[in-house]
Amino acid sequence: MQNKKHLIIISVLVLFLSVIVYYGLLASNLFPVQAAAQAIPIDWLFDLELKLIAFFFSVIVVPIVYSLVVFRSDEGDPTDGPHIEGNTTLEITWTLIPLIIVIILGIIGADNLKRVLAVDPRANVIKVVGFQWGWRFEYPQGFISNELYLPIDQQALLEMESLDVIHSFWVPEFRIKQDIVPGQTTEYRITPNLLGSYVVRCAELCGTDHAYMLGNIHVVSQEEYSIWVEGQVKIATELEQFSEGKPDPDRGKQLYETTGCKACHSIDGSIGVGPSWSGLFGHEVSLADGSVIVADEEYLFNSIKQPALQTVAGYSSNAMPDFSYLKDTQIDDLVEFIKSLE
Ligand code: CUA
Repeated sequence: MQNKKHLIIISVLVLFLSVIVYYGLLASNLFPVQAAAQAIPIDWLFDLELKLIAFFFSVIVVPIVYSLVVFRSDEGDPTDGPHIEGNTTLEITWTLIPLIIVIILGIIGADNLKRVLAVDPRANVIKVVGFQWGWRFEYPQGFISNELYLPIDQQALLEMESLDVIHSFWVPEFRIKQDIVPGQTTEYRITPNLLGSYVVRCAELCGTDHAYMLGNIHVVSQEEYSIWVEGQVKIATELEQFSEGKPDPDRGKQLYETTGCKACHSIDGSIGVGPSWSGLFGHEVSLADGSVIVADEEYLFNSIKQPALQTVAGYSSNAMPDFSYLKDTQIDDLVEFIKSLE
């Protein structure tokens, strides 16, 4: 009778604490806003796990605290409690119940994964290039951007490659995270369902500026997306046409911002992963091999084309990603831009 009373009190306390812990966890805003269809099953499973966590926390903590308070030995009572040796029913129960829970969670998890990876054959394919330390997005229409625009409610298939080390593409609002491994193409499918701007961050420690390896993502309406793509195609076509002509510092500036030069080379003299471009042209540069060279057009051109050939003293010889996809005329534009920086 006495035992039954304790059991009832403990059960009520466990339920009570479970509810408090669960709502306490929810109130701590564990997640940012949900911005993709793939986030729905993930959040649902997480919610189920939070409930289980709250329950098992209570199942452990309540009996401990209850026993400490209620079953305290009387003062001056040195006797031991009753000797209990084994309880087969209890042991089978506490083995089977967790086993069943884990199996059920495994099945739900597998089903969830299937939903998260579901393929839409009409997906918008965009190539993502990760490098130390930035992102580049190459669109099927032939232009490159340093911002990722995605139309709402349409699946995007990101085919991701790395120029150097392992990075990881992570947008907390989309929930999914995917490694980018050099020499491989990894895939990331996402169906954004909330208009807005988000930030992709790198979730794999990849060197000095890992923490600043950020990129902007804009989820826009279909119309806005079409207009943006059209505008980018126009800019790209103009760049192509013009780059046949005289090198141009404005186009160079645009390349500086879109291809990722900006991630490592400042234009205000501040020290970055690479030398600043400010006041570089026409000045002497000390190289790692001890020689001194004047930063003329030829030197700048070669340094972009084959960065490892002439490393500046104090900088790493293999820090710069491969920019060999740039055309010579585009490199001329960049050199022109460097020349324009006092
Ligand atoms: Cu790329 Cu961390």
